[in-house]
Amino acid sequence: MLIAPPEVRLPPRDAVEKAVRELDRRLGPSKVDTSDGGRQTHARDDSAAVGRIPDAVVLAQGKADVAIALEVCEKHGVPVTPRAAGTGRTGGAVPVAGGVVLATSGMSNIVDIDREDLVAVVQPGVVTGALHAAVEAEGLFYPPDPNSLSSCMIGGNVAENAGGPRAFKYGVTREYVLGLEVCLMGGRVLRTGRRTVKGVTGYDVTSLLVGSEGTLGVFSEISLKLVHAPTQIATVLALYPDVRAAAAAVQRVIARGLVPRCLELMDAWTLDAIRRQGVSVDLRANAMLLVEVDGRNAPLDGLLEALGETLSEGGQAIDVVAAQDEAQRARLWESRRMLSMATRKLAKYKLSEDVVVPRSRLVSLLDEAARICELEKVRHLTYGHAGDGNMHVNFLWDDDSERPAIDRAIDGLMRATVRLGGTLSGEHGIGVSKAAYLPLEQGPELVALQQDLKRAFDPSGLLNPGKIFPTGHASC
Ligand code: LAC
Ligand code: ZN
Repeated sequence: MLIAPPEVRLPPRDAVEKAVRELDRRLGPSKVDTSDGGRQTHARDDSAAVGRIPDAVVLAQGKADVAIALEVCEKHGVPVTPRAAGTGRTGGAVPVAGGVVLATSGMSNIVDIDREDLVAVVQPGVVTGALHAAVEAEGLFYPPDPNSLSSCMIGGNVAENAGGPRAFKYGVTREYVLGLEVCLMGGRVLRTGRRTVKGVTGYDVTSLLVGSEGTLGVFSEISLKLVHAPTQIATVLALYPDVRAAAAAVQRVIARGLVPRCLELMDAWTLDAIRRQGVSVDLRANAMLLVEVDGRNAPLDGLLEALGETLSEGGQAIDVVAAQDEAQRARLWESRRMLSMATRKLAKYKLSEDVVVPRSRLVSLLDEAARICELEKVRHLTYGHAGDGNMHVNFLWDDDSERPAIDRAIDGLMRATVRLGGTLSGEHGIGVSKAAYLPLEQGPELVALQQDLKRAFDPSGLLNPGKIFPTGHASC
């Protein structure tokens, strides 16, 4: 089952042809892919959003290529959809209006890792895992860790303001972006932000660009803040008879002021998916917490002891165990990383939401998800970053006839999230998938203000059209 494309203006044929000819001439044919295969692989991302096959894919190798592509497309009135790895979950990189896909995956240089200033300067096509490895080799650390880190790229992480399990202690991508070099429609190139730790000059345009989902500009260089790498890491697994007991433990950990770097919760159906990957999990357990602590140059014993006590308090825990060695730790995280893929195998279709509620409302969110899914008779499973109140409620179904019930369940979940004081997306963005629901959370004045900002960056509305803001038919 797929999400219908939003209503967008399609470019006139002759305009597209002229643009592609000019791109070909100015960039050279090796950077302008008009093959069927190339166009098709750039028509989708890791979501169910439907794109239109783009007319051409620009394979940018540097800032000048990005700027030329944006200049040519503006001149001819052709839509452009920027893309790094295309691992997004809400259709951010899906070209819903055809035109040109501007791929920055070829811009994959780590320009600088500055140990003294704790700054990394990278191009947008650097794979996040490769950046981790490079900075860790220097004893440094870039904390944001989307679970897709072996394939996702920094450009996309910045565009979506990616999160991941470690955000509980370290925060999301935005907190690490110091400055950007960004190309705007028409070909202007700007530098925003700074290289210093502090700085309050002018509006915070860098923060506005982070999480703008490719609708305001295309990054050609990103300056990131680094920290010193932790020297001690320990992972603890806690099993509970039900998800309420696990959620209560999460709340106790937060209330006690313990700050693990990850505090992940998995429900009963998720545990089944983990067991199917060959990881043995006590069959009495219907919920699991995966908790990771880290520190620098000081033993973790005291923290681990307090954590163990807190997780066990109330007598409901079935088991609380620390991973015995690095291999066991790696196995636990590997099964967590694989969850998104593994749960896809449980049904023909899967749609994963990433709603967030205030942490005190975690149990209410889980109850609401269960109530809504029971009412609509749809299958679901929930896991995610419980420490942040950010849960992935996954809807599963096998037959197209179930889709209306799934849509009602998603609608119910979105409304319940807002009612609980939450927000529709913690890390995957709005993209195409959630654009229809934006008005549930944001009033018309705020939506209009953001559209004004969009016009200041992109007056013709050609950059990543159809994203974030609801279009025509898609209101709710
Ligand atoms: C995760 C991704 C899907 O947490 O956000 O697994
Ligand atoms: Zn996540």
